[in-house]
Amino acid sequence: MVGYVMVIYDYDIPEYDIWHMMIDESNQGRGYGSAALERVLDYIKTKPFGLSNRVALTCNQDNSHALNLYKSKGFTETGAVDGDEIELSLMMQ
Ligand SMILES: CC(C)(COP(=O)(O)OP(=O)(O)OC[C@H]1O[C@@H](n2cnc3c(N)ncnc32)[C@H](O)[C@@H]1OP(=O)(O)O)[C@@H](O)C(=O)NCCC(=O)NCCS
Repeated sequence: MVGYVMVIYDYDIPEYDIWHMMIDESNQGRGYGSAALERVLDYIKTKPFGLSNRVALTCNQDNSHALNLYKSKGFTETGAVDGDEIELSLMMQ
């Protein structure tokens, strides 16, 4: 195993949330994070828990590596901030 990522469905909003995306340090920068995020988005497209098209996540504002990854997949900053964490979201087709 080289990493871990969690998908939850927030029924209150509703939206899909991506939590705790991480690739082991010794395996970072090899494309695993990008591949994992694509698999996650393909999974969410199947609407396993609910019909919302919104996908959201939060990320430390200084984590340029992760922010580059999310933005390369179409996520944009929503403007919502919680301490050092900023929210990004993506509307699926
Ligand atoms: C963020 C993380 C999941 C990315 O996984 P990864 O396997 O290292 O990422 P990839 O190799 O697939 O690279 C994906 C993109 O990240 C960006 N990236 C990769 N290496 C980078 C670096 N050294 N600096 C800045 N951006 C970088 C690029 O946009 C890259 O896309 P590209 O290859 O088309 O240029 C991983 O670094 C990680 O687990 N970090 C620690 C935990 C963490 O911060 N998780 C995110 C919580 S919000």
